[in-house]
Amino acid sequence: MKQVNTTAIIGCQWGDEGKGKITDYYSQKSDIIVRWSGGDNAGHTIVFNQQKYKLSIIPSGIFNQAAICVIANGCVVNLEKLVSEINYLQKAGISCHNLRISDRAHVILPYHLALDACVEKAKGEKALGTTKKGVGPCYADKINRVGIRIGDLLNKDQLFTLINDNVKIKNKILKAVYQHDQQFDSQVIWAKLLALLPEIKDLIIDSGQFLNDQVKNEKRILFEGAQGTLLDLDHGTYPFVTASHPCANSIPIGTGLSLKLIKEIIGVTKAYSTRVGAGAFPSEINDEIADYIRKTGHEFGTVSNRPRRIGWFDAVIAKYSVQINGFTSLAITLLDVLSGIKELKICTNYLLNEQKINYLPSQITTFAQCQPEFIVLPGWKEDITKVTKYDDLPLNAKNYLQKISELTGVAIKIFSVGPDRKQTIVMEE
Ligand code: GDP
Ligand code: IMO
Ligand code: MG
Repeated sequence: MKQVNTTAIIGCQWGDEGKGKITDYYSQKSDIIVRWSGGDNAGHTIVFNQQKYKLSIIPSGIFNQAAICVIANGCVVNLEKLVSEINYLQKAGISCHNLRISDRAHVILPYHLALDACVEKAKGEKALGTTKKGVGPCYADKINRVGIRIGDLLNKDQLFTLINDNVKIKNKILKAVYQHDQQFDSQVIWAKLLALLPEIKDLIIDSGQFLNDQVKNEKRILFEGAQGTLLDLDHGTYPFVTASHPCANSIPIGTGLSLKLIKEIIGVTKAYSTRVGAGAFPSEINDEIADYIRKTGHEFGTVSNRPRRIGWFDAVIAKYSVQINGFTSLAITLLDVLSGIKELKICTNYLLNEQKINYLPSQITTFAQCQPEFIVLPGWKEDITKVTKYDDLPLNAKNYLQKISELTGVAIKIFSVGPDRKQTIVMEE
C-alpha cells in the first residue's frame, strides 16, 4: 500500500489569514507545493532571515529550492505578473527553475483587467471592492468556454484566432455597455504574449498527470490555498466573494487529483477577524481596539494596501469553515497582536429577529442583519513574540486558544506569534 502524504493549507475567514507563512513553514518538509485556485488577487507574505517576500501567483514554497512548485489548472495566470514575480525572486537570489505551470490554467488578459474595473465602476456604491486583477472576468470566460489557456500559447496561429474572437466581443461590450474609451488590439495582445512565452515555455506541463505521478512516487504534496472560505463563490458571503473556490473541496478539481488523496487539511485562522473589500461582517469593530489591532498587526492589504476591516474572532464563521472544509487541525495566526488588550471577545452566535442562530444565512441582506453575541475572555499583557512553546504562553493566551478549539471542535496544531518563519509553533513538536 502506497503512502499518501498530502496537506492542504486553507483560509478559514475572508483571506489574509497567514496562509503564505504557514505554507512556507510546511514547504520545508514538502516535495511539491501546489497553488490550485485564484490568481494574483492573492497576496502572500513570507518572512525569514530578516527578509520579507510578497508573492501573488508563485507558490510560497518556492523558497525550498529542492521542491517543485506548481501553478495548477484551477488557477488563472497573468503572464506579465508571473514573469515580473519570477524576476523579483531572481533579483533576491531565488531561482524559479523549480516552477511549473499547468497547460490547462487560464490566462488573464488586458481586457479582463479593463472589464473588472468597468464592472466595479458601474456598480458604484454597490461595488464588491475587487482587487481589479481581472480574476472574475477571466473565470467568467472559462465558464463561458471562451477562455484562453496556457497550452494555447504553444500554437501561435490558433492563439491569434482565440484572442481575436475575444477582443471583437470585449471591445463591443467595453464601448457599448461601459462607455470605456480603450479599445484592444488583438495583434498587440498576441505579440505581447508571444514575447513573454520564452520566459515560461519550459515550465509548462500537464500538471494533473505530473501530480498523480508524484503521488505514485510517494512524494509529500502541500496545497497552498488562496483567499478564504468566506470568499468562496458558492459557500462565501455571496455576492461579496471571489470568482473561485478557495475551500479544500476544490483541490481535486483544481489539480486533477482524486478527492481520496486529500489527507490532512489545516484551517488557517487569525486570532481575530479581518476583511478587505465590501460585504457584511457581523463581528466587525470600529473603535480604538480596531485601530490598535490594525496598527499592531499591520493590517493593510498585501495586494491593494487598503486598510483591512477588523473584527473579533467569529466562532460561527470558524465552525462553518470547519463544516465545509473538514479541517483536521487549525493554525491560529497573529496571536501576538492581541497582547495588551484587556478583554477579548469571541462571537459565539448571531441574533437574527431576536432569535439566536449559529449558522450563516445564505442571503447577504439577512446576513447583514445578524447581530453578534459575544463571550468575553480576559486578555494578557505579556509580549509573546519570543514564545517558542505552548507551555510558555501566558495562561490567558492558553485559555483563549483552548476556547477557540472548544468552540470549533477542532484541535489547534499550530499557533503563530509573529510574521517570521521561526515564530511558528507546532504543538506536536
Ligand atoms: P495570506 O494571504 O493568508 O498569505 O496572508 P497575508 O500575507 O496577506 O497577510 C498576513 C499578514 O500577517 C502578513 O503581513 C504576515 O507577515 C503577517 N503574519 C502572519 N502570521 C503572523 C503572526 O503570527 N503575527 C504577526 N504579527 N504577523 C503575522
Ligand atoms: P489572499 O490569498 C483577501 C477579496 C477582494 C474582494 C473580493 C473579490 O491574500 O488571502 P477579486 O479580485 O477576487 O474578484 O475580489 O475578494 N479578495 C481577497 N481578500 N485576501 C485575498 O487573497 C483576496 N482575494 C480576493 O478584496 O473583496
Ligand atoms: Mg493575503
